[in-house]
Amino acid sequence: MSVYSHVLTQDGIIPKESLLYPFEERGLQFGDGVYEVIRIYQGSFDLLEEHIDRLYRSADAIRLKVPFIKTELIAALQKLTATNDVRTDAKLYLQITRGSATREHSFPDVPSNFYAYIEPSNRPVSSLQHGVRAILADDIRWDLCYIKSLNLLPNILAKQTAKEKGAYEAILHKQDTVTEGSSSNVFMIKDDILYTHPATVNILHGCVRARVLELAQQAGLQVKETAFRVENLLQADEVFITSTTSEIMPIIEIDAKQVGNGKPGSITRILQRAYEKACGIHVTAFA
Ligand code: PDD
Repeated sequence: MSVYSHVLTQDGIIPKESLLYPFEERGLQFGDGVYEVIRIYQGSFDLLEEHIDRLYRSADAIRLKVPFIKTELIAALQKLTATNDVRTDAKLYLQITRGSATREHSFPDVPSNFYAYIEPSNRPVSSLQHGVRAILADDIRWDLCYIKSLNLLPNILAKQTAKEKGAYEAILHKQDTVTEGSSSNVFMIKDDILYTHPATVNILHGCVRARVLELAQQAGLQVKETAFRVENLLQADEVFITSTTSEIMPIIEIDAKQVGNGKPGSITRILQRAYEKACGIHVTAFA
């Protein structure tokens, strides 16, 4: 399951071995860049435009130039899947940095560096079926979390703590308010109402989050984009997280405390099935 042979750069599609950066590179030295992770199901992109729109929003927010216009970029990414003959479930990773230049904090006058590569990636079927554990962790990030920035140190530290405690995800809270996961958005269900943090500067506006809100409304669920507290989360009937790679992932335990009856809830299941349909997935994980 290694990375497909060809990558897309600002200069076109090249073999991955040819992609080399000098050590003085803004992404490497400063984390000065933005990124996206995009799902591919059976060779086709899912939510491609949504991810690309967010990429431009993130780049604009840090005054970074994307070296493609939107239609060109979408065409180039489609060409990348064709060149690699991608037919499996996979994910595309894409990043843009402020370029290669002598190390100095202020912006250099050089072109951005862009690359995108594709890697096979299976759906986490067993976890989707049975649910996973989460821990709580302080949200120690900055004030502009809607930017999908390469600076992920707080997220990495939270995820590592989760892993060391045998959990799948760290659910972050700023003071008492639940924001999102270290690499996911967080939802809870209480008395048949679906809650998630509003799309403010304090969370990444997840592409899956937006789709789930739509699907929930279509399913007739009452939806509230309202911040909630840790104590509400711990008393929820159902909890799940969402992301490009985790889809709708049931949380069955938080800090060793059972969520609901300790099994993925019925509303979560309804949304998981609707999500599979929306992605065009033919083989359901929930037969
Ligand atoms: N992470 N919040 C954070 C902090 C994230 O890093 C992610 C995605 C999400 C969910 O966004 P989306 O639904 O658009 O995938 C929310 C990606 C998958 C990653 O960093 O690997």
